[in-house]
Amino acid sequence: AQVDKGGHKHFMAKEIAEQPRVIGEAIMHYLSADGRSIVLPEKGIDFTKIDRLTMVACGTAFYACLTAKYWFEQLAGLPVDVDIASEFRYREPPIPARTAALFVSQSGETADTLAALRFCDGKAATILSVVNVPESSIARESDLALPILAGTEIGVASTKAFTCQLTVLLMLALKAAHDRGALDHEALADHLSKLRALPSAFNTAMEQAQPMAAAARKLAEASDILFLGRGLMYPLALEGALKLKEISYIHAEAYASGELKHGPIALIDKHVPVVVMAPKDGLFDKTASNMQEVIARGGRVVLITDRAGAAEAAEDAWITLLMPQVPPLLAPILYALPAQLLAYHTAVAKGTDVDQPRNLAKSVTVE
Ligand code: G6P
Repeated sequence: AQVDKGGHKHFMAKEIAEQPRVIGEAIMHYLSADGRSIVLPEKGIDFTKIDRLTMVACGTAFYACLTAKYWFEQLAGLPVDVDIASEFRYREPPIPARTAALFVSQSGETADTLAALRFCDGKAATILSVVNVPESSIARESDLALPILAGTEIGVASTKAFTCQLTVLLMLALKAAHDRGALDHEALADHLSKLRALPSAFNTAMEQAQPMAAAARKLAEASDILFLGRGLMYPLALEGALKLKEISYIHAEAYASGELKHGPIALIDKHVPVVVMAPKDGLFDKTASNMQEVIARGGRVVLITDRAGAAEAAEDAWITLLMPQVPPLLAPILYALPAQLLAYHTAVAKGTDVDQPRNLAKSVTVE
């Protein structure tokens, strides 16, 4: 079916706005009728027979994998490797028995990801994929393909596919945790009921679109921008920097906050804004102290946090963008929104082609 912009100026804006609905649909798709457990397609996967998970992807989907690594390790105690498909396929790493290989791809046709999958065929215990296009090559060649149900994504810069990938990956991690005995029925049901509240938190966060657009107009004047995050927020910082460079052509780089002192701090001055993604979680104080190191060197910080984080650190920030409070495990899905909107409005302010950025393709089916 022909997809139109539904009254939005760009497909990207429409796809950003659709997120509360499509995330909600993805959640419902994998939820049991009583809402207390997770239902996978019939073939399923036996997580008790798996000792290791290898995740492979490109671009934004790779950052979804980096985020999911934290979930699988923390919730399910399952060791995870994450790799860029173009590296993985030519390195040809050993695949120990009892390894599940998981490929994440919006299109399901990315050449490097497909080649990585084919390398694992016959070596990994099982081949899983998380895809947006259920008829795609990657889905067809997997033992189990989990659709993300984001609907057609037209904007080259991935938005709703990323948050739906995260949603499905989190549910898969919760399932793994339950199957492996790391989460009992009650704890699983509790996580799921919190997850079901996420679309509404997303709607609340969208009410901050104006302050985010205003912040983006200021960022549009910069030629270099740093993104910082720790733990679950590190992959989000990477995604924020990727979104921004893809569509606004501003040079942006992301670092794990703890790496600031190992190099990027040399770049800090008042011309290099630093976007700090930091909900008030167990690592907040560490990131807040990195933020102070930036400020002490004349850097200007755009702090993306919640009310509790703002109460502690907003005073020193150049700009603070407020997100609703959500459980730390869910924060990466929610914090994708400010990452997307900052990039979107920066690109709009610069007048670049938001939906069709130069040199980029939606789906890279050649090497
Ligand atoms: C291209 C797109 C990105 C996407 C990447 C991986 O670079 O522009 O938005 O993240 O390919 O694509 P896939 O379809 O495998 O998720």
